[in-house]
Amino acid sequence: MKGRDIISDDIFKTISDVADAMKVEAYVVGGYVRDFMLKRPLPNDIDVVAVGSGIELAEKLSEALPKKPKVTVFKRFGTAMLRHNDIELEFVGARKESYRADSRKPTVEDGTLEDDQRRRDFTINALAVRLNNDGFGELIDPFNGLTDLENEIIQTPLDPDITFSDDPLRMMRAIRFAAQLHFTIHPKTLAAIRKNADRLHIVSVERIMTEFNKIMTCERPSEGLALLFETGLLPYFLPEINALQGVEEVEGQLHKDNFYHTIEVVDNISKNTENLWLRWAALLHDIGKPVVKKFDSKVGWTFHGHEFLGGKMVPRIFKRLKLPLGSTSKYVQKMVAMSSRPTALTNENVTDSAVRRLLFDAGDDIDDLMLLVEADITTKNERRKRKYLNNFREVRERLVKVEEEDKLRNWQPPISGKEIMDAFNLPPGREVGLIKSAIKEAILDGEIHNDYDAAMAFMKEKGPHILQSDEKP
Ligand code: CTP
Repeated sequence: MKGRDIISDDIFKTISDVADAMKVEAYVVGGYVRDFMLKRPLPNDIDVVAVGSGIELAEKLSEALPKKPKVTVFKRFGTAMLRHNDIELEFVGARKESYRADSRKPTVEDGTLEDDQRRRDFTINALAVRLNNDGFGELIDPFNGLTDLENEIIQTPLDPDITFSDDPLRMMRAIRFAAQLHFTIHPKTLAAIRKNADRLHIVSVERIMTEFNKIMTCERPSEGLALLFETGLLPYFLPEINALQGVEEVEGQLHKDNFYHTIEVVDNISKNTENLWLRWAALLHDIGKPVVKKFDSKVGWTFHGHEFLGGKMVPRIFKRLKLPLGSTSKYVQKMVAMSSRPTALTNENVTDSAVRRLLFDAGDDIDDLMLLVEADITTKNERRKRKYLNNFREVRERLVKVEEEDKLRNWQPPISGKEIMDAFNLPPGREVGLIKSAIKEAILDGEIHNDYDAAMAFMKEKGPHILQSDEKP
């Protein structure tokens, strides 16, 4: 494959002329080259390496462009960035770089193109395409990145111990690329991840989460999740998921391995949603299990209350991982806490009232919740699987029916607090709440319809009794 086709865009021609005039060599490197070779959608950011000053190349390029875009300079890192149309161009001078073991602050020294390629993370990211007019489009590949792309292998250009100690985040990146591209990590590189896993503790949680969320966005996140577990990286940021692994046997009774079950659930849900947070809910849906697990010789393994507890664990985990709090973590908490509710509705004698309560509690998230419970079916027994899916279809049908009749999604009380106060001549306070909640319960129980007249009649009839019994000691 030729590098020339990659750089047909006009911007590259302008960079060649500017670089030639400056007498510096310039190359496109990194993800742009990799993704082009793989025929993947091209990224909007392009990395350019100058053998010389990357900042100066960016500044001269800006002068040569019609709109003279603003150049943002990161002096400390010796990099510069400018935007041209929708493309973000990043410039860096070729360097030999080493990192202090305890931080990411680089000590930078000028280097050759090959020095620069050598200090990149993976051979597939170390391909360079020449931009100067002399040799324009030539592919420079001293670490056989092209062969690794063809063989679908992820490996480091240097001894992996060195590449990973330069930046331990690269261990996460190896797994992210493996999951994203369905590539295999070279055994030596994989062994180095196992060996250096504890170095992840010097990496900021934000950087870890950027890579982790890219894994969660993959077509089959389980590929990455299994690798994170097997390499020993997972416990450094999600010990709760790590703890799901393992089966225990008591009196000949085993429970399933909840780690492998969980990652299958994440894959299942990923077939039906792009919603990252619903995928997170699938990831966390069983985290309460190891905490409440008990063996009872009559009924076997039990996990009572694990959903509620798991839900409670969500905001703490989100805070620790610097993931969005507020509505996002509340949504995930709600999904985890409710993750068995629809399942409880699949036996025959379920009342409409239970269906109404489910709809009331889930509100607009009911469809996401139903996706989650369906994804939770991982039995290999086809007959059982069909049975569960049929049961859920019935629950869905009943949900639709109840919603049509009672409009409980995002329910608003039909009678306002003010109307209750006026009717019984009450000041604002506890009693108003009692009557309001009695109306709500009557609607959810199906005692009355969810409409104004029915609620008003109910209030007039029952209100005095409620107030009377509230007065009793
Ligand atoms: N790079 C590296 N070590 C890192 C991060 C990045 O060596 N820890 C190098 C790689 O050569 C990479 C390039 O910098 O190709 C650009 O990094 P980045 O934009 O993070 O990744 P991409 O490879 O472009 O991939 P993606 O767009 O999927 O993140």
